Amino acid sequence: GAPVEVDIAGLVPGEMKTVEWRGKPVWILKRSPEMIATLKQTDAEVADPNSERKPDELTPEYARNEYRSIKPEILVAVGICTHLGCSPVTRFQTGAQPSLPDDWHGGFLCPCHGSTFDLAGRVFKNKPAPDNLEVPRHMFLSDSKLVIG
Ligand code: FES
Repeated sequence: GAPVEVDIAGLVPGEMKTVEWRGKPVWILKRSPEMIATLKQTDAEVADPNSERKPDELTPEYARNEYRSIKPEILVAVGICTHLGCSPVTRFQTGAQPSLPDDWHGGFLCPCHGSTFDLAGRVFKNKPAPDNLEVPRHMFLSDSKLVIG
């Protein structure tokens, strides 16, 4: 598939847009400073904090960091669960919610079998999903233009 160019100029902190690339949904989440700060807290709770598993498939070299991204504020991730391919939904609010822990910091929840992911798409420990969400190859053409693929 051809690379997809995305205009991210209008994204405000906390906002996510979804684009299609190679038939897959790709999320572009602009993380607020508060959202970025949660990643330190989830480091100890996720199964593969440094994205060392299947790096060639799941995490390009420039995203093998705590943020899983080039710029801390912009997450680009494929919105397909690494368990059996369902579509996780966003759960950005903190605090107690059905099916989420009381100390939830925001992230993604797969409705099929309950896997949860933090705001960097890192899977929490002891969940059916074996791996972090895929970060597709991407680069910035400018502050407002992103290319996926
Ligand atoms: Fe997501 Fe099973 S498909 S937890």
